[in-house]
Amino acid sequence: PHPIIFDTDPGVDDAQAIAIALRHPEIELLGMTTTYGNVDVATATRNALLLAELAGQAVPVAQGAAGPLVKPRHPAPAHIHGANGLGDIELPTVKGKADPRSAAQFIVDTVNARPGDVTLVTVGPVGNLAAALQLDPGLIEKVRQVVVMGGSIREGGNVTPVAEANMFNDPDAAARVLTAGWPLTLVGLDVTHRCVLTQSHMDRIEAGQGRPLGRVLAESYAFYRNFYREFLGIDGCCPHDSCALAWLLRPDLFTTARGHLGVATSGIAEGQTVFAPEGRGFIETRWSGTPLVDVCLGVDGDAVSEWIADTL
Ligand code: BDR
Ligand code: CA
Repeated sequence: PHPIIFDTDPGVDDAQAIAIALRHPEIELLGMTTTYGNVDVATATRNALLLAELAGQAVPVAQGAAGPLVKPRHPAPAHIHGANGLGDIELPTVKGKADPRSAAQFIVDTVNARPGDVTLVTVGPVGNLAAALQLDPGLIEKVRQVVVMGGSIREGGNVTPVAEANMFNDPDAAARVLTAGWPLTLVGLDVTHRCVLTQSHMDRIEAGQGRPLGRVLAESYAFYRNFYREFLGIDGCCPHDSCALAWLLRPDLFTTARGHLGVATSGIAEGQTVFAPEGRGFIETRWSGTPLVDVCLGVDGDAVSEWIADTL
């Protein structure tokens, strides 16, 4: 099994991924850490607690970054995930409380309790991982691996022509996390845009989950789907965040490349992830000596969507 900490800003597609993390027999969900992004961080925490409760599971949830490391926060656009992050559907009241620790402290404590074991999966702006690294730089040697949903190598962006939302929302944190030197895989728009969760997948998921979690997943999906229809002309939704878990559990469905990553932290390309394949020489020395990471470039999108529906 994969012991993971799931770092998230739920978010409709985050909720789908959380359901997978809660249900998949090969995942041991050690905790969730929350960040602003799709919603403010208090709402993200509420949603994470709620989803675990609806699944009948006691999972610690530690609240994290309320905004980016350096820059002012971009307001979350409510037309994508709804003002409540879950498609503005009616939600039951949450009973549980968040862990008293900060997200960064939770990550540090949990990884140090099981050195070499824990995988960090992050599907929002990555400030919590940057803060955890600041608290304990030794995490680089102690995590098993880091899976980041974010960025884009060849696909272009979804917030600007070049920047993906999770990178754009905290490019300074992204620059630190992607170049920290820990074993890291980037699962970006190059693959998530190749996966479409259709209504018929969601019908299976709703039936499989039953109420009340199935209702939340299905109704929030309906809201998110409208956004895809109106803005992108797609009939269905890209399950971005579930792709990070698909990569972890079904790497056979993906193709990757190894190389160096950089993140633009200012200017017109702010939030862009720039990839230099291993072995290519460059005149400018900034790229030499930066750590190697893996980036996902290809995917069997239909198989990933089937895997999501089958899992749920
Ligand atoms: C990412 O941005 C968020 O809106 C989604 O939840 C996902 O993590 C996709 O760019
Ligand atoms: Ca997300």
